[in-house]
Amino acid sequence: MKIQIYKGDFLKAKTDLLVVGIFEDDKKLKGPAAEVNAALKNALQGVMRDENFKGEFEKTLLVHPLGRISAKRVCLIGLGKSKEFTTDRHRRAFARMVQAAKNVQAESLLSPFFGWEGKALTDKELSKTATEGVLLGTYSFEKYKKKEKKHGLRNVSFMLEAGMSGTRIQAGIREGTVAAQATNFARDLVNEPGNVINPVALANTARQIAKKAGLSCRILNVKQISKLGMGAYLGVAQGSINPPRFIHLTYRPRGKSAKKSIAIVGKGITFDSGGLSIKPSDSMQTMKIDKSGACTVLAVMQSLPQIRPNVTVHGIIAAAENMPGGRAQRPDDIVRTMNGKTIEVLNTDAEGRLTLADALCYAGRLKPYQMIDLATLTGACVVALGEYTSGVMGNDQAFIDKFLKSAKDAGEQMWPLPFDDNMKEKLKSSVADLKNIGNRYGGAITAGMFLREFVGDIPWIHIDIAGPAFHEKGWGCNPGGATGVGVRSLLHYISSL
Ligand code: BES
Ligand code: MN
Ligand code: ZN
Repeated sequence: MKIQIYKGDFLKAKTDLLVVGIFEDDKKLKGPAAEVNAALKNALQGVMRDENFKGEFEKTLLVHPLGRISAKRVCLIGLGKSKEFTTDRHRRAFARMVQAAKNVQAESLLSPFFGWEGKALTDKELSKTATEGVLLGTYSFEKYKKKEKKHGLRNVSFMLEAGMSGTRIQAGIREGTVAAQATNFARDLVNEPGNVINPVALANTARQIAKKAGLSCRILNVKQISKLGMGAYLGVAQGSINPPRFIHLTYRPRGKSAKKSIAIVGKGITFDSGGLSIKPSDSMQTMKIDKSGACTVLAVMQSLPQIRPNVTVHGIIAAAENMPGGRAQRPDDIVRTMNGKTIEVLNTDAEGRLTLADALCYAGRLKPYQMIDLATLTGACVVALGEYTSGVMGNDQAFIDKFLKSAKDAGEQMWPLPFDDNMKEKLKSSVADLKNIGNRYGGAITAGMFLREFVGDIPWIHIDIAGPAFHEKGWGCNPGGATGVGVRSLLHYISSL
């Protein structure tokens, strides 16, 4: 995809799709929409009236200009109420228009930015969010489908309007491209099924990333993992014929003296059958996505050299496949983690916290300034917050607040869930230091509190991405399938350090 700036008269632009935006509360057409309407002798307004198009957010309407302007088609896009307009709506408007472009097999598209008059949106934010919308919105996973010969969108141009800086817009295009490509990389990896991506394949991918991006890479096999005493992680892995791999990538800023280091830890269950506490078949479908946290970590690590933050970043994944079988761990088993704590495994389907317990112990030994983990950890989080919002927990309120702000700026919905020490007793076991499940209430919170036992004093946040990691139909900038949730928030947060 080529994304560029268009400087000329847009009425004379030879493009397959000229886009104009309409706010719901606009009394009359403004800006490019008014100019197109005039050139079409009021046809735009006429069609809007006939089709009852009021400019509701994400609604589109196609109009044929019948040769009165150079564009083949005009696409009206609804922007909603102007006072409800946000940078994320700007991003989503672009995702929506590229889907409209796909429906008519347009190869080129020209659009202005929206809602910037009189607002605090900078040129760079406008072009960054627009670029993200375009690249995220055109994503599709079609690797395993028969190739059909279809025309796809290849050229997207943003109109340069009076008072905008071409240099700042180019900078926004560059930043948006990095963030969106990283997200799409995570999506591609998550969308791969369990028979393609097992722990060894994930480790091989990590190795390739390290080579390409100049990161250091340490991969541990079963022998090395048991030497470190990661009994909880190994317990999860032992049921599968696909052996586990522990992945540790490190980005170090070049030529700079990094004052800080952070660790990002991703849940990497390449398939979650539930183990002996086997899932019903309906819930087992889509469980290839249980590696989403890991894929987000890999995508972020891969793009760090492009954004060059002045912080050392450790990317950590305890990859395993959770399977039943003759060697599988049983309910009632007691395992010992790297920090010496014992866990009674009462449900083998609460496996993520077992692998993360050891991964967090490992990360803690690196003495990072902060730690962040991402995990498709609990169905309870989806019940609590719905499927579009990640749950954020942690042991440091200032860190939680700062991260939530980054997520919002990056256009990802995240919301805090409270730790509650009244619930601590739910994780008490009669035979071990902890058990791996609570009762049916507050399951996302007890899972987070379980992880807290392996973090120590390091400022840490836990992001439960079980809801937004995958969406069959998609929404907003997510065309369906894996979403790559967390990539943009993490990149934005790390850039701010
Ligand atoms: N990977 C699942 C959580 C999940 C559910 C992710 C739905 C994405 C969508 C996790 O390993 C799991 O099975 N959690 C159990 C925990 C329970 C046994 C305490 C759950 O949520 O049911
Ligand atoms: Mn599970
Ligand atoms: Zn799981």
